[in-house]
Amino acid sequence: FDLILPLMAIGYLSGTWLGALTVCRWVGVEDPRLTGSCNPGFSNVLRLHGRRLALATLVVDVAKGMPVLWLAMWLGLPPWGLGLVGLGVLLGHSYPAWHRFRGGKGVASAFGVMLVLTPWVAICCAGLWMLLAWRMRTAAIASLASAAMAPLVSLWLAPDFAGVVIVFTLLVLARHVLNIRRLGRGDEPPL
Ligand code: G3P
Repeated sequence: FDLILPLMAIGYLSGTWLGALTVCRWVGVEDPRLTGSCNPGFSNVLRLHGRRLALATLVVDVAKGMPVLWLAMWLGLPPWGLGLVGLGVLLGHSYPAWHRFRGGKGVASAFGVMLVLTPWVAICCAGLWMLLAWRMRTAAIASLASAAMAPLVSLWLAPDFAGVVIVFTLLVLARHVLNIRRLGRGDEPPL
């Protein structure tokens, strides 16, 4: 715990760096929290400002949790400790203190964390996400399906991290409540 709590705090701080806000401010385009789905994330930036800015957003959100996780791995934390550090990153992204605790939905940041902890699970989920986003043209369906699949793939490919991945899934699903309602009403905006 001597190491885990400080590393979790560093993970939280790293997570609070919202790629969408930095990128949109940098080029001087509208804040993605104001239109579209109002989510500061890859999908909404793609919807509002196109591929280049969306890709830049994705790179920040995927990469931001990696340094602290590499450090935690180098320090020899056990899987559950690494999972807590990764959870810190996700909590920072979804509930950033500097943005009145209103952050993103955690899909890209969970992918980045899993890319370090459980790379094959991350790659399988990303594959499903891209396939569904391409076929269905709806980011939330792709995210919900990938999040639901992650624990199953994890039980198969990285059982040590299955508990942690379940927690990530629950967090991502909880962040999609509005999307689920919109999907139910049939007015979810397309990608
Ligand atoms: O990755 C976030 C996605 O699942 C939903 O985003 O902007 O369509 O609400 P959005």
